[in-house]
Amino acid sequence: MKTDTAPQSAPKKIFLKDYAKPDYLVEHVSLTFALDKTKTRVTARLSVKRNDGAAADAPLVLDGEDLDLVAIAVDGKSLGEDAYTYEHNVLTVRDVPAAFTLETEVLINPDANTKLSGLYISNGMFCTQCEAEGFRRITFFPDRPDVLSTYDVRIEADKSAYPVLLANGNPGDKGDLENGRHFAEWADPHPKPAYLFALVGGDLAHKQDSFTTMSGREVTLQIFVQPHNLDKTDYALDALKRSMKWDEETFGREYDLDIFMIVAVDHFNFGAMENKGLNIFNSSCVLASETTATDGDFELIESIVAHEYFHNWSGNRVTCRDWFQLCLKEGFTVFRDQEFTADQRSRAVARIRDVRRLWQRQFQEDAGPLAHPVRPESYITIDNFYTATVYDKGAELVRMMKTLLGPEDFRKATDLYFDRNDGTAATVEDFVGAMEEASGIDLTQFRRWYSDAGTPQISATEAWDNGTYALTLTQHTDPTPGQDDKAPRHIPVRMGLIGPDGPMVDEKVLQLKEESQTFTFDGLQTKPVASLFRGFSAPVTVKRELDTEERLRLIAQDTDSFNRWATAHAFAMDLLKSMAGQQEMKNSHEALISYAKAIETIITDETLEPAFRAEVLRVPTETDIGRAVAQIDPDAISEARRKFRRGLLETLKGTLSDLYTANLVNDDYDPGADQAGKRALKNAALALLMAEPSDTTAELALRQADNATNMTDEAGAVSLLAQSNRPEREDALSRFYDKWKHDPLVVNKWLVWQALAGGEDALDKIIALTRHEAFDMGNPNKVRSLIGAFAMENPKAFHRADGAGYDLFFEKVRELDKRNPQVAARLLTATEAWRRLEPKRRDMLGSRLKALAQEDGLSNNTFEMAERLSD
Ligand code: ARG
Ligand code: ZN
Repeated sequence: MKTDTAPQSAPKKIFLKDYAKPDYLVEHVSLTFALDKTKTRVTARLSVKRNDGAAADAPLVLDGEDLDLVAIAVDGKSLGEDAYTYEHNVLTVRDVPAAFTLETEVLINPDANTKLSGLYISNGMFCTQCEAEGFRRITFFPDRPDVLSTYDVRIEADKSAYPVLLANGNPGDKGDLENGRHFAEWADPHPKPAYLFALVGGDLAHKQDSFTTMSGREVTLQIFVQPHNLDKTDYALDALKRSMKWDEETFGREYDLDIFMIVAVDHFNFGAMENKGLNIFNSSCVLASETTATDGDFELIESIVAHEYFHNWSGNRVTCRDWFQLCLKEGFTVFRDQEFTADQRSRAVARIRDVRRLWQRQFQEDAGPLAHPVRPESYITIDNFYTATVYDKGAELVRMMKTLLGPEDFRKATDLYFDRNDGTAATVEDFVGAMEEASGIDLTQFRRWYSDAGTPQISATEAWDNGTYALTLTQHTDPTPGQDDKAPRHIPVRMGLIGPDGPMVDEKVLQLKEESQTFTFDGLQTKPVASLFRGFSAPVTVKRELDTEERLRLIAQDTDSFNRWATAHAFAMDLLKSMAGQQEMKNSHEALISYAKAIETIITDETLEPAFRAEVLRVPTETDIGRAVAQIDPDAISEARRKFRRGLLETLKGTLSDLYTANLVNDDYDPGADQAGKRALKNAALALLMAEPSDTTAELALRQADNATNMTDEAGAVSLLAQSNRPEREDALSRFYDKWKHDPLVVNKWLVWQALAGGEDALDKIIALTRHEAFDMGNPNKVRSLIGAFAMENPKAFHRADGAGYDLFFEKVRELDKRNPQVAARLLTATEAWRRLEPKRRDMLGSRLKALAQEDGLSNNTFEMAERLSD
């Protein structure tokens, strides 16, 4: 038996420019799993073929991590110990023929797998996660996405503990074995890279349905869960059917196996995974019932089910050549799931939510030490590049190309891309090339969006002269790590002009390509106000001088709803910044009243969707404000937000109470956009009423919590009480816990509310919660709910002036790094704005990051993050 002689390899950077084709391909894989908690035996038979252009003496190099090698044979002949080496997670076999069968037998220990990568155990069930590099923790393999193979899999396990045995593809034979064991066989005819492999074994119940594809084939749909969760699968199943239909109608994509399965697991490093025919989901992204999940949860589940399903074409049928091309599948698939949500719900509201998310996560990333191009050029651990930039900015790039091409040519281009690259591992270049070929549009300059990091800043200046309006747009991008000079980008500017009585010219898409360009509009009666970047037509920031009158005109009269919201949001941000002492504002008291009146008109406008009105009513969080200021002083920001909310409340009190009553929903619960919008508006009104909770308001919240028949209303009310310092707070929280302690997903919400709470003793309460029975460092959802929420969304506690928030955070990161490096490294992103903190905190946080980067024994994941952050 051979184990890795030198398992821990020193951190090594991998570069896009070093890409080389694999020397050997694997055409077919046969796997047999004898499942056992601590000693699972994996037997693999690989049909290996030397690749075109590879040298005849090229050794066979396979990845393998934490594997105990029991046996190895080439063409049936067992290899002696001197015929191969296994060190630094690499198995090298010399002197192999041009085509041969490699057989290996390894033992792995799923029970000891706390990294949740490879084969592991979650609540007594076996499951796998292989993207990006988990398959090498299951068996020896060229674990890279450009090696595509067909698979057949045989799983053997104890029948009573693991009655359900699943893998990718279509089901085959199954039956009983000796000693109470049984087996099941699966075959996947579609060639796939190893990262899409999946296996599940457990005591699971399932809900079933079917879908008839556009060519008339019937597909069985199944969602597998722990038996007590069976009543929480209907919504995901429904979302799945809608996704399948939508992808046929919108992209012409049909499903290609007889069966599509989703499995919910409680321990999962992120949201979900698109394994061929066998998606594995974090249970928080699939389980929902009206009493346990909020409208927001339902919407999230719908979008993630869609996202993973859409990967069947954008990711699986056409996969990535190497991990630098990750945005090829992720950016494109996010774009597809965003469009799905926009079509299923409200396009304007969907766009607002997507852009909010982009601002919150991606703009912040692009402006700090972790900035990287949508197509990165190097990495130590690819796990660290499943980022907002790759996903969300990646989606914006696809959206901009659609804007430049128009919908018809865009669809021609995606058809061409899918057809031409089906069954292969493609590149970003293949995608952009298809866009050019289908449309005849030159995207040479546009490609900079993929290679250059950083968010372009656009300054807009306007001139008015005798009926001619001139708009000058100038672009600039700040340096980002490793990229000092940025050339101008090709930016689509969707815009319109708004006069005192409404729109003055039809919507246009301007092409900004130079550093500075002037666009003129003649023959106008009065000076218009430009509505720029409608629908957020490019991921840029815009600087322009608008006076209050111009702002009010756009808020009231812009025909683009996204920009109505965006103008109101920018107005609020300016007020908040000035209140936090970060920006001058003339007559800020009057401005606040103007702002309140402007949004009052919107939130009371019955012709507008309630969900849209709710978005307008939402006050930016302290973290949102922190992202917008030059220097972060958490106490000043918190105080500014408090004042801002109270100021709004003063003007809007009566309106808010009316809105609350007018939007009560009395029908049976439905998670769809209409009802959800009303609840959102009602709860947004309550949130602002709770800015200064009187006895009556607190009473209203309590009553809502007690009488709620759905989690949206219950959570809406309890979370607000939890953010307040009302005497009712503790009681509301403890009653909620007693009611829900049997349901871990609901308890996670309870952890989040407390992680976000204010007050002098906020941090002490969070520390106490790390010892509570509801918390568990072994479960990533719990870690994210308590530690993640505290560090990312509770700036006052995290940045406590004495550094105690940082101490808790780094203690938990170190503890977690030993157990689950992917999750530990991800947590560190909470510190990415440290250089913008006021000097005292900046020094405290910066020195802790530097100390961490220098520590021995860190995982590669955490080392890479700490180093980039403190560099
Ligand atoms: N492909 C998955 C998805 O976006 C996510 C996989 C994340 N993997 C990782 N190592 N972070 O649906
Ligand atoms: Zn994805």
